[in-house]
Amino acid sequence: MAESGAWVPEGVDITVPNASRVYDYALGGVHNFTVDREFWHQTERVFPEARMVARANRAFLGRAVRWLMEERGVTQFLDIGSGIPTLGNVHEAAQEIDPRARVVYVDIDPIAVEQSRSLLRGNPGARAVRGDLREPEVLLSDSRLQDFLDFSRPIGVLMVAVLQFVPDAADPRSIISRIGAALASGSHLVLSHTGPETTAERRERQERVRQLYEQTPTPLVIRDRRRLLDLIDDSFEVVEPGVVTAEQWRPDSEEAAEIPPQPTALAVVARRV
Ligand SMILES: C[S@@+](CC[C@H](N)C(=O)[O-])C[C@H]1O[C@@H](n2cnc3c(N)ncnc32)[C@H](O)[C@@H]1O
Repeated sequence: MAESGAWVPEGVDITVPNASRVYDYALGGVHNFTVDREFWHQTERVFPEARMVARANRAFLGRAVRWLMEERGVTQFLDIGSGIPTLGNVHEAAQEIDPRARVVYVDIDPIAVEQSRSLLRGNPGARAVRGDLREPEVLLSDSRLQDFLDFSRPIGVLMVAVLQFVPDAADPRSIISRIGAALASGSHLVLSHTGPETTAERRERQERVRQLYEQTPTPLVIRDRRRLLDLIDDSFEVVEPGVVTAEQWRPDSEEAAEIPPQPTALAVVARRV
């Protein structure tokens, strides 16, 4: 992809790696720049498992959406930190089951929002807005959300591989709690998060990846199971099987066979009581 084209929205710095574009490249997308690709190659040199982690995470997202629709009757979704559209987007999984399903994508990255809008052209059931998870009241009062989703009915709120870019200083527990306060009972949170590696050798390599992320606008925060659960207050109840690795969350047999265990991709779903 060209490095300076009309498609680069104003204000986008293409000289520093960006989480959404790095992830896009990791999953085989084309909306990324040299700096993102080099960053990913550096990451993979240190941590070759990273691509599988991204795939396990993405597969979890699809399973969770299908499960919420089929088992919990949820037909509206708010995907925060949605990233650049790639394979298996939320609206594709949801509208395949119910063509009337509604999805709002939110991302802080203008390129992710622009690419989502371009993909969604002609789809009346899905839209993309730019927003910052760290400002939940601003995000939730946006008329493009309020006019489109019915907050008196359950909503599936996805924060998949995004809370790891929200530091403790931004108080992610309070952010989730404030989002939860706007949701009807029966809504669900779908979270995934980078967790700690399980062996000393892998932890040492993971630490080098964490240090790499220091050069991006969104440094990486690693949280273990306990810290992930601590982000969810008691207005939610955690759904079985609790916090597990992404590929262990209600696997269907094909995916379970395809993706080997990825200890760092933690996943959990919780229901608004
Ligand atoms: C690793 S990607 C995950 C994409 C998608 N959720 C998935 O799992 O396939 C993380 C995304 O979160 C976005 N992001 C980071 N901080 C954010 C914030 N404060 N508000 C909204 N989006 C944010 C990034 O721009 C990026 O697109």
